[in-house]
Amino acid sequence: MADSNQDPEKLINQVISFIERERELYGDFAMNPSTENSEDKITRKSESQTESSTPSNSSVTEPSQQTSETPSTTTQNDDSFSSQEGLFNQDDSNEVYYQIDKCNTLEELEKLCRKADVLRTDLEGTQLVFGVGNPDADLMLIGEAPGAEEDKQGEPFFGKAGQLLNKILNAINFQREDVYIANILKHRPPNNRNPKPEERERSLPFLQRQIDLINPKLILSLGKVSAQTLLEKNSASLSSMRGKFHKFRGKYELMATYHPAALLRHAKWKRPTWEDVQLLRKRYDELGGQP
Ligand code: URA
Ligand code: URA
Repeated sequence: MADSNQDPEKLINQVISFIERERELYGDFAMNPSTENSEDKITRKSESQTESSTPSNSSVTEPSQQTSETPSTTTQNDDSFSSQEGLFNQDDSNEVYYQIDKCNTLEELEKLCRKADVLRTDLEGTQLVFGVGNPDADLMLIGEAPGAEEDKQGEPFFGKAGQLLNKILNAINFQREDVYIANILKHRPPNNRNPKPEERERSLPFLQRQIDLINPKLILSLGKVSAQTLLEKNSASLSSMRGKFHKFRGKYELMATYHPAALLRHAKWKRPTWEDVQLLRKRYDELGGQP
């Protein structure tokens, strides 16, 4: 919506059509209410939001609205967040945060995550999907949240999107084992809906510790939710964030690109993704990443 020509009506129309385009885009990803997810687990969400349109639905909500999930408080629009009890309340849920920095290995952190109810979503019976890969990796990939397949395996990016991710990695001369892979959320959300701001917020301190323990030279965020969360840009479009390196928490360089599940749906995003990962590989080599 570049040139607004000062005409407010025109501007409003531009905004509306922007939102409609976005909605079209994400509407496409959304809604796989068929709980038979065999086909749709592919589409982990980055984009789905089966909790049809809470006002919070992070995907469509480009313009403003979302909370600054990272520090600060909790919620905001969480109408549909049913099982809130026990998440914030009291001591034991907060207690776990004090232990994060005491974890000096990934194993210790994983153990802590395993008993951290604050990491759970309102889908019962999910298993922890902590992360996988080389603990000394110079490249860390961060997706959004586990899907059905990942929940089953306990490993991130295990389903269709994961297979495409492996191919992308191979194309820039990485093996999956060379890198470390994690998600913003460590448990699967119901119906593969987008992680809610408060879920991301509760998870972030654990992820930040995980990143610090790995201490990668580069981070690649996959999909909009991941980029928005890590860069604290709650209403930024992916296209505005991708294609360049961002300083992340003062000491890391972060590249944002499309989510592999998004590429399975939208072939037009393959080229920009390709460009992004080429840049990433180049930077990795410049920084002396191993291998
Ligand atoms: N999509 C993600 O964002 N993460 C996974 O682990 C799998 C699919
Ligand atoms: N929106 C997303 O959520 N993910 C993408 O990869 C692209 C657009």
